[in-house]
Amino acid sequence: DAVGRPLVHASALQQATGEARYADDTPAMGQNELHMALVLSTRARAIIKRIDASRALHGELPGVVGIVTADDVHDNVTGIGNDEQVFRSKSVTSQGQIIAGILATDPLVAREAAKLVQVEYEDDTAATDQQPPPLTIEDALAMPNPQDYILYHDEHSNGDVDSVFARGSSDSSDDDDVVVVRGETRTGAQEHFYLETQAALAWPVDGTGPRAEIHVISSAQGPSDIQTFVARALGLARHRVQVHVRRIGGGFGGKESAAFLVACPAAVAARKFNRAVRCVLDRDSDMRLTGHRHAFLGRYVVALDRRSGQLLAARLALFANGGYSLDLSGGVMLRAMVASCNAYRVPLVHCSGTVLKTHLSSSTAFRGFGAVQAMLVCETWLEHAARAAGLPVELVRERNLLRSGDNLFFDHVVVHSPLQRCWDECVTSSDYWARQRRVQEFNETHEHVKRGLAVVPVCYGVAFLHAMLNQGGALVNIYSDGSVLIHHGGVEMGQGLNIKLIQVATRALAIKVPGKTSLVPVPAGRIHVGETTTSHVPNTSPSAASMTSDIYGAAVQAACEQLAQRLADFAAKQPEGTWDDWVSAAYAAMVSLSATGFHSITGLKKSWKSKDGRLYSYETFGVGCAEVEVDCLTGVHRVLRADIVMDLGRSLNPAIDVGQIEGAFAQGLGLWTLEEMLWGAGDGRVVSQGPSNYKIPAVSDMPRVMNVALLKWDEHREEDDGGVVPPRAVYSSKAVGEPPLFLSAAAYFAIRNAVTDYRKQHCSEEQDTFLQLHCPATVERIRMACRDDLVAR
Ligand code: MTE
Ligand code: MOS
Repeated sequence: DAVGRPLVHASALQQATGEARYADDTPAMGQNELHMALVLSTRARAIIKRIDASRALHGELPGVVGIVTADDVHDNVTGIGNDEQVFRSKSVTSQGQIIAGILATDPLVAREAAKLVQVEYEDDTAATDQQPPPLTIEDALAMPNPQDYILYHDEHSNGDVDSVFARGSSDSSDDDDVVVVRGETRTGAQEHFYLETQAALAWPVDGTGPRAEIHVISSAQGPSDIQTFVARALGLARHRVQVHVRRIGGGFGGKESAAFLVACPAAVAARKFNRAVRCVLDRDSDMRLTGHRHAFLGRYVVALDRRSGQLLAARLALFANGGYSLDLSGGVMLRAMVASCNAYRVPLVHCSGTVLKTHLSSSTAFRGFGAVQAMLVCETWLEHAARAAGLPVELVRERNLLRSGDNLFFDHVVVHSPLQRCWDECVTSSDYWARQRRVQEFNETHEHVKRGLAVVPVCYGVAFLHAMLNQGGALVNIYSDGSVLIHHGGVEMGQGLNIKLIQVATRALAIKVPGKTSLVPVPAGRIHVGETTTSHVPNTSPSAASMTSDIYGAAVQAACEQLAQRLADFAAKQPEGTWDDWVSAAYAAMVSLSATGFHSITGLKKSWKSKDGRLYSYETFGVGCAEVEVDCLTGVHRVLRADIVMDLGRSLNPAIDVGQIEGAFAQGLGLWTLEEMLWGAGDGRVVSQGPSNYKIPAVSDMPRVMNVALLKWDEHREEDDGGVVPPRAVYSSKAVGEPPLFLSAAAYFAIRNAVTDYRKQHCSEEQDTFLQLHCPATVERIRMACRDDLVAR
């Protein structure tokens, strides 16, 4: 069968030729189709006094048909936290909020007309105490009433961390064993920059009465959520709303919840005008109105035992910028808290998480979902503690790696940790120590160009932390010619989900034939995956949390195994026959050739603090190493080489998975070193709109040399690792989508090492201060870190 083989992505060829259809490639729905452009707010906090669309509707522009506003919505309340509106009507709380939609027969006319809509604002004096609207975490914390700006707060601890800190000192000259460090660091927002901007096409069927249907093609990661939001906005039961997603051009979390922002207005307009309505955001609008990755601030107090190199205790306070609404921020902060010690054993932890409400677009899911921000904070405090103790940071990292059986501070046991093996393989294959010596020699002989090398691990917990979301279904049909069609509830967003599910089906449909020793698999070419719709599979969770192939792989497997069993009778009667023969015999015998499969992950904790159950289904592990060269006079850096070893269990498709690792690494490089979202101070205007003002990694930013290896699995090695077979996903594979992203932080820590070497040589300040270098470590920040007088801005 095809499981474990490097098969090509199911629609690679169509995507390469441009034939692959995305939402906006859907042909026009006849002459009736309308295009919608959105009117977005241009104030961060204001009362809406008046919306004047007369120039747009009755002006010179030909083909303008109408406007939709909050008045046209059945229930205007929307969003994950029920704290958003389909259209803003009374006030705005961020720039880029949707106030109205203008409909026209031509998309450019709709855009021009939308610009003619005049929105009159008035200062919101009541709510504000005359303070400017808070935009950053620090702004919100500094408000006179900071508790009004808390969207989410939680904390948890497994013991008395302060008693450990009381035993320590922060001074390395002391001969105390316990070293205590304090500090803080920041990570920035990140734009998803999916190739396909958010889009929706909605059309009514059978009119607009209570018995009508509405269909929506949406560029969504969560079709069922779109169904839910649209049904609510229109006042319909969900069975009258059908959402279709063939594929999306990248989501990266940005379409996990946020797709409703476009889908709901399009559906409202389609129903109002009884015509098909298409709404496709241009890049600038997409960057203004949809949210980004949460910016984080992490504060820490950490104790390390100088003799043993062991971490002893950590008090961590994480803050995130949530933007104007809750959205997924609670889940993001929860995942940040549980990832706050990354891959390390820390006996005593107190961790708090606070999401602040600000007057920016609502921050949302982004690959790594808070975990990677917390991990960056973690590696920073670990490095801080190691330096203060005078220990090599690699030694402290290795000494504290999670081992099988370790219990995390929120009572989750890591059943099986191959971290040490990942570490050893990465250090060996990258020739880490020899290269570290060469880096030192290089830095001694080069005055203004410095190199740095660093290695970091990752432990990524796999499961939706909201346990109920860990379920999904599939529908498998076999046609009488022997071809197989799979529908599942997941969304293909480029991650190779469909080919993986085809591979699963080749094995799960394999037939037992008398006289043959092995099962007879179904060739991958006989299996096709159709579009995802809410009609084929109901009540699906968004394709997210790297869980999609785990959940739908198992659902497809369950459906296929039923069908294989039904066909086995016919194979028994006709052992010399082929798949096609058995299928047509089953059809002739009036046996059902259609089955649904369902999978849920059980035994998960109801709450992250409860003692019972597991928080994750399992963990995905990896170690990454990177070498950089920094021009300390300009701040420009390049990544010379990266080496990655990931544990993916038995990969379903190593070609796809290596691609996921490389892609995640690139996206992480952007997060830590290149991409910077900028907002106008005071007015919250999005400055970074489009590629001219926002830089994502290009081919030239990739490491000159990049080696990716998957940890080999075989039974006897599993015994070496403790003899426990971990609970893993379908056919012993592991989730891959998000876990590798953090490994790119090796490049950031390598930059820090290079800059630290430079500062030792050139800066007069005392050598002991720990370098502050906030993320993203852009050219400007690196340059400033290399200057004595500019440090710590
Ligand atoms: N890969 C591609 N090509 N495009 C994407 O949008 N999204 C990432 C990751 N890899 C993404 C991607 C994110 S955020 C997640 S959660 C997972 O894929 C989702 O897919 P999976 O659950 O099948 O891994
Ligand atoms: Mo991924 S951030 O869980 O969509």
